[in-house]
Amino acid sequence: MEQMLSLVDQNKERYINELRDLIAIPSVSSQKNHDTDIRRCAEWVANHMIAIGMQKAQVFETPGHPIVYSEWLGAPGKPTVLLYGHYDVQPVDPVNLWSSPPFELSLRGENMYARGTADDKGQIFIHFKAIEAYVRNGGRLPVNVKMIIEGEEEVGSPNLATFVADHKELLKSDLVLISDSSMFAKGVPSMKYGLRGLAYMEIELTGPNRDLHSGSFGGSVHNPIQALTEIISSLHDKNGKITIPGFYHDVLALTKAERTAFKKLPHNDKRYAKELGVKELYGEKGFSTLERLWARPTLECNGIWGGYTGEGAKTVLPSKAFAKISMRLVPNQSSAKIAKLFEKHIKKIAPKTVEVKVSTHHGGEPVVTPLDSPGVQAAIAALEKGFGKKPLYQREGGSIPIVVQFKKILGLDTVLLGFGLPDENAHAPDEHLNIDNFFGGIRTSIHFFNELPRFWKGKK
Ligand code: BES
Ligand code: MN
Ligand code: MN
Repeated sequence: MEQMLSLVDQNKERYINELRDLIAIPSVSSQKNHDTDIRRCAEWVANHMIAIGMQKAQVFETPGHPIVYSEWLGAPGKPTVLLYGHYDVQPVDPVNLWSSPPFELSLRGENMYARGTADDKGQIFIHFKAIEAYVRNGGRLPVNVKMIIEGEEEVGSPNLATFVADHKELLKSDLVLISDSSMFAKGVPSMKYGLRGLAYMEIELTGPNRDLHSGSFGGSVHNPIQALTEIISSLHDKNGKITIPGFYHDVLALTKAERTAFKKLPHNDKRYAKELGVKELYGEKGFSTLERLWARPTLECNGIWGGYTGEGAKTVLPSKAFAKISMRLVPNQSSAKIAKLFEKHIKKIAPKTVEVKVSTHHGGEPVVTPLDSPGVQAAIAALEKGFGKKPLYQREGGSIPIVVQFKKILGLDTVLLGFGLPDENAHAPDEHLNIDNFFGGIRTSIHFFNELPRFWKGKK
């Protein structure tokens, strides 16, 4: 163990330079003009898997972007970890708000900056380097490892569940390990046991059959932008509750024990508000901030557009208005059911003055994972060794929809071992990863693989 950990210390610079190469590939999954970069990135990942000592790596085609599979199965009788992550990244716009070019790894202060450092290239790389340390120090791992690293996570993983269902035998494992989330705070490692689900919708309103002169026609027809904002503002009541009938029907209430546990976490509303630059927080009445973030469903307008938004002024009464609206879901809400309720409600409240179209983008189910599984126990022990502190328990507001699919299709529980921090600007300009967390993550991953067989024994 000591030897391996010192190997990590000796190779810090090399790790960062290798990560630099992975970061430099602009693998934006949502933009067609990056399709060749996506492919290049999948190949890079597969080649790197072989370079770190995995026995096999294969790029699988899908109807969308490729999935990279890899395995090291040299520990018969020992548990098999299925590592999941994604090599695709979010777009970089607005690019002018970045302090350094988004695809050039830049080390400043205690962080490394670039798109994909936290979400998720930097985090999959952590495990690559842990595995490499084992292979270079004795040639073996204490567990078997399989990996699927996909290229469509940021667009809702449209082909992943089918891939998993079609390759059940290949993916047969004992548990899933995902590092695609964050710790509670800097210096405060945590174990996550819940994720919210998602239902992502779009509304299109059409008023008059063409754009109109707002002077000649204003006063005679309902401006679709106005109608849209009226609809959107009616979706929350004055207590911050969502007004869609049936929306809360399946929501699992927080237990007393969980509320008490959340209260004990080192969170401070004032500090949190200040850090976000708001004078006051907002949300559903009757729940604390952490409860609202992790265990209550929400509805957000992600974007709204229509009419004239260019330079200067243009007097126009637009024909159309649009909005993208997503809802974060909690157990036991179902994303398909919520999408239906949303559509029904919008159609019901839309005024007769406009035509309304509602469509569904992607969705995902919420999940709470058991804390007493051997995988979670091993991860807790590993975090304590890797970061020198006992981890806290927390849930998460974001979504990793495949977690539920892994359970349904493969029967596997997931260990969520995130090494990011909550303020690392994932999906935003100046995304970064804390450098100490990067190396702490590598140490933790090494410990995790080492601890797992011990916790696994007797439990299965
Ligand atoms: N890594 C995130 C998930 C995440 C976000 C975990 C925040 C922890 C904290 C993942 O890449 C992501 O962005 N997921 C999407 C959902 C997906 C269906 C597009 C999300 O949460 O918006
Ligand atoms: Mn991610
Ligand atoms: Mn993401």
